[in-house]
Amino acid sequence: MPKVYTGDYTKMFDISGKKAVIVGGAGGFGEKIAECYAANGVDVCISSRKEDKLVEAEAKIKAAAAEGVKVIHYACDATDEQAVIAFRDFVVSEEGLGGCDILVNAQGYNKKMFSWEIDTEVWKGMLDANITSMMYTCRYFGNWMKNNNLDEGEVQVPESEFAQGQANPNKGYGKIINFSSVRDCRIVANGGMGNVAYNTTKGAVQMLTKAYASDLRPNIQVNAIGPTITYTPMMVGLLPPDETVRNNIAAALPAQRIGYEIDVCGPAIFLASAASDMVTASVIYPDGGLVATS
Ligand SMILES: NC(=O)c1ccc[n+]([C@@H]2O[C@H](COP(=O)([O-])OP(=O)(O)OC[C@H]3O[C@@H](n4cnc5c(N)ncnc54)[C@H](OP(=O)(O)O)[C@@H]3O)[C@@H](O)[C@H]2O)c1
Repeated sequence: MPKVYTGDYTKMFDISGKKAVIVGGAGGFGEKIAECYAANGVDVCISSRKEDKLVEAEAKIKAAAAEGVKVIHYACDATDEQAVIAFRDFVVSEEGLGGCDILVNAQGYNKKMFSWEIDTEVWKGMLDANITSMMYTCRYFGNWMKNNNLDEGEVQVPESEFAQGQANPNKGYGKIINFSSVRDCRIVANGGMGNVAYNTTKGAVQMLTKAYASDLRPNIQVNAIGPTITYTPMMVGLLPPDETVRNNIAAALPAQRIGYEIDVCGPAIFLASAASDMVTASVIYPDGGLVATS
């Protein structure tokens, strides 16, 4: 049966006891969400390619975590299909988290290239890192959740028995949160040039999110967060180092500032909790009003 929340009003946003995988979990947004989840009682496994960054981030997340929360990491290039399968197998094993309820895709990067200088190899690399990696993680973690997070008494249909050309018949639950951007629907006047590749990938993330929401129905909600310009490690060198100067970029917006990493945590809790059980195939923009007003 499709799920309907019947619990206590005060528990709708309670995510304690859940198990979350955060790809890009040593990056600006990913690490902040991992800290926020761990502080709220969620076991987390962070992942990205560089082991040293993961070890550093894991220590910070552990320092913020609620008592008894498990914080682990797994180095993986999410553009490598076999590596993602091995990552999924590790996460659901007892050595890992022993399951998965929430998948956050916070990986990706931007390399500005003007239309006359687009480098084909860089273009393909951005498509891989920003889109193909999400296709793999949504596929392998999403179907694992659908096959395994079943209600008591519900019997799992093994993949070998799925009918050809039909959807996965299992009805397991889960939450998937993909990082899109205000660039999925706005070129953004200020500093919006040189983004043909990046904007293309973010437009694709929006549609990938909606398509997976349809495919993984009815109990896995798939949504995206579309932040505004935020001074994360990805933006060092692309934005001015002075905070006041940076915020002046957004002076015309309702919020009158650019984003901070903490701004994505509210939507990340909402989209991981029962409070969002009827929200799927959507993008939430913690953007200070940019999408509405530009
Ligand atoms: N900052 C902004 O202004 C902004 C605004 C809107 C949307 N976004 C989006 O938000 C997401 C997070 O960005 P951020 O600003 O937090 O950037 P960030 O600090 O650079 O973090 C990105 C993370 O992705 C990981 N990553 C990159 N390629 C990967 C791959 N192939 N496999 C696994 N992990 C990979 C990186 O680690 P490794 O290099 O070690 O793999 C890093 O941990 C991105 O999708 C970005 O497009 C950012």
